[in-house]
Amino acid sequence: MSALSGRFVVFDGPDGSGKSTQFRTIAGMARSAGLEVREVREPGGTAVGERIREILLDPIHDEMALRCEMMLYMASRAQLVEQIIRPALRGGALVLADRFVSSTYAYQGAAGGLPMHEIDAVASAACGDRAGGGTWPDLTVIFDVDGRTAATRLNPTLDRMEQKGAEFHARVRQGYLDQAARDPGHYAVIDAHQNAEAVTGDTLSMLRQRLVGRGVHE
Ligand code: TMP
Repeated sequence: MSALSGRFVVFDGPDGSGKSTQFRTIAGMARSAGLEVREVREPGGTAVGERIREILLDPIHDEMALRCEMMLYMASRAQLVEQIIRPALRGGALVLADRFVSSTYAYQGAAGGLPMHEIDAVASAACGDRAGGGTWPDLTVIFDVDGRTAATRLNPTLDRMEQKGAEFHARVRQGYLDQAARDPGHYAVIDAHQNAEAVTGDTLSMLRQRLVGRGVHE
């Protein structure tokens, strides 16, 4: 289990993928197994970040410019990295994040249309240098689901991002799959169409294989 100390794992995927349910289940299991676990969510996770989250998700801000949106997500992330993630990793905790930079590549990049090099530049400012010294995930787990299945899992009151429609969300999904295909060493894709128990089972075996060589519940 010590193999998980100081590791940084992100759970990500389209709205309605069930990632947050898996996130809670697996964080609980890791904690029961005796690990020190620090859970964070984005946007938010700090007092400053939760205020930024309110602005980002409030449907009243339908005029928000894409670059403003991207920078607000990154601003929330910069605060989270500095205040919580970096100290927790230094202290040897397993950090589990519900969304991270992979969300910005998928939503503001692949779906929104912002050039990747702009996102990369701001991500380096928020998280530090990816090539060394920065705070980047050891592994990003993508919970993959098609739009129709995802729609059945959403709360009927949609937030500003969820209101963007089926085509936008199809591009989000593809944006995640493309990231995973480009960087298989740092990404894993889980089929999230199955029921929650089956998805948990697949996620645990994958984590076992990729991070510890044995079960996180052992
Ligand atoms: P949540 O529903 O998982 O809490 O995420 C909030 C929404 O914000 C969700 O629709 C995805 C979106 N989002 C982005 O568009 N870009 C980002 O960088 C992040 C972290 C989230």
